[in-house]
Amino acid sequence: SMLKNGFNISLVGTIAYGCYGKKAEMYVQRHPPVQADADPEKKTIIVLGSGWASTSFLKDIDTDDYNVVVVSPRNYFLFTPLLPSCTVGTIDVRSLVEPTRFISRHKSRTVKVVEAECTHIDPESKSITITGMLACAYSSDVKGQNAVSTLPYDYLIIGVGAMSATFGIKGVEEYGCFLKEVWDAQKIRTKLMDCIETAAFPNQSPEEVDRLLHMVVVGGGPTGIEYAAELHDFLVDDLASWYPELAGKVKITLVEALPNVLPAFSKHLIEYTESTFKEQNIAIHTKTMVKEVHEKEIEVKRPDGSIDTIPYGLLVWATGNTARPLIKDLMQKFPETQQVRRGLAVDDWLRLEGSQDIYALGDATATRYAPTAQVAAQQGKYLARLFKQLAVRDELEAEFASATKEDRSRTDRKLRKVKDIKPFHYSHQGSLCYVGSDKAVADLPFGPGGNLATGGVATFAFWRSAYISNLFSTRNRALVITDWLKKTALGRDISRE
Ligand code: FAD
Ligand code: NAI
Repeated sequence: SMLKNGFNISLVGTIAYGCYGKKAEMYVQRHPPVQADADPEKKTIIVLGSGWASTSFLKDIDTDDYNVVVVSPRNYFLFTPLLPSCTVGTIDVRSLVEPTRFISRHKSRTVKVVEAECTHIDPESKSITITGMLACAYSSDVKGQNAVSTLPYDYLIIGVGAMSATFGIKGVEEYGCFLKEVWDAQKIRTKLMDCIETAAFPNQSPEEVDRLLHMVVVGGGPTGIEYAAELHDFLVDDLASWYPELAGKVKITLVEALPNVLPAFSKHLIEYTESTFKEQNIAIHTKTMVKEVHEKEIEVKRPDGSIDTIPYGLLVWATGNTARPLIKDLMQKFPETQQVRRGLAVDDWLRLEGSQDIYALGDATATRYAPTAQVAAQQGKYLARLFKQLAVRDELEAEFASATKEDRSRTDRKLRKVKDIKPFHYSHQGSLCYVGSDKAVADLPFGPGGNLATGGVATFAFWRSAYISNLFSTRNRALVITDWLKKTALGRDISRE
């Protein structure tokens, strides 16, 4: 019993110490110390974007070496892997975002954060044009005005990500909902409740009710699958209780052009996902290509070549990425080296092909890697290291120029070492996807060249813990865990905002 008491006391002590440590860490997080001013002697790096790639770079870049300016139309980082959960209110969007200033304020030297879109890059004059919305709720003078400005750079880091692809299919932009940004998730949530409340309105034709309650997802990649899974959970856990007369009529259909969903996953996991969807009454239409989107129906080409129409109430469009106009525009400035339509071509050091001082990373690039957060984050970290090495190189070169003959050979040796920058190397940590009913699938690297493909409830527990540990901050972790507990204890909110 003494041993047990001793154990308990030490456990309580450890927790108390841990909490104290966390409290101290959180105090510093909330009260960052004063920062040093920008140094006109240092080179300026402009970072475009505040997503996975740019934020990971910002976190690691040593601001003692450079003046850093971040330009992004949204002033926060978004943890995209849990975004599908926000479409039905399992998680609140605010739990997944972290303001860029929470990160930049913890750097040793002031980092300028500008909420604006980069609309033009001029590699000749080494400057960018930015456009911001000046909106002020209290002053009609500047309300909603576009403000344009230019900023010079020594180095430019392009981490602007990609846009949702439509392949030029008519009606997608107008009637479909993408799932990429915070506002997309909010729009889907609102539209879903619109459909349900409209279907509940008295005296509608049964066809109209069926149409309103038909939720169609286009694209069987991880985004489409995770969205359909979340929608299913919402239907079973919540809508069934609050709309008993309608819940049985809600139908979920997923349309995929290829012969199967989740093409990047192992065969066994594809089968597992398809059978789980079957159990969950989610219809999968494979080898079915959407040709046109109308306000209330989509036109599809079936495997036998016939054209069919599918009426829908809500249409979620998740068919992957395409390059942003800014990126396409930049490519045209390097006609010889930039010929991949998918994104920017970079070398193994993430330097834009054809340029000395522009670097690009994440979904804005076309590399041999998949456009994932994992790749983008590792590239950001790598690039911060590369820039450290460049700073050391510059310092040594200055030292070399002013050194005596004897000292030169020593500096030269160091210089040669620092100039040997290792190329980017990606380390794959595995792929995870939620498939509904507290089940997930995972392809995990296992041993040299091996792979562990697992699916089920245990994998879901792993999915949850992996995402919790990968969330950006302690604040995000606390909020997401609270959201999950709230959902379990109180259910999801069905109010129409
Ligand atoms: P983003 O994160 O998209 O960031 C781009 C940034 O650039 C944004 O801040 C944007 O506002 C800004 N920007 C845009 N235009 C401009 C401009 N003109 N000027 C300046 N800034 C601009 N990947 C995984 O590895 N695991 C997952 O589980 C996973 N789940 C996902 C779930 C969903 C729903 C989605 C949509 C994606 C998911 N991904 C996942 C993919 C992952 O989110 C992307 O690969 C990742 O976001 C790419 O990072 P990025 O920094 O290149 O782009
Ligand atoms: P995706 O590119 O992975 O999948 C899009 C799917 O849409 C493809 O299977 C394609 O065949 C299909 N498609 C295209 N046009 C179509 C049409 N007209 N009609 C019917 N189907 C059509 O796109 P997604 O899911 O948006 O993912 C983008 C990136 O983000 C991927 O790299 C993915 O790995 C990553 N991601 C990862 C997640 C995870 O790991 N859990 C979650 C979400 C995204």
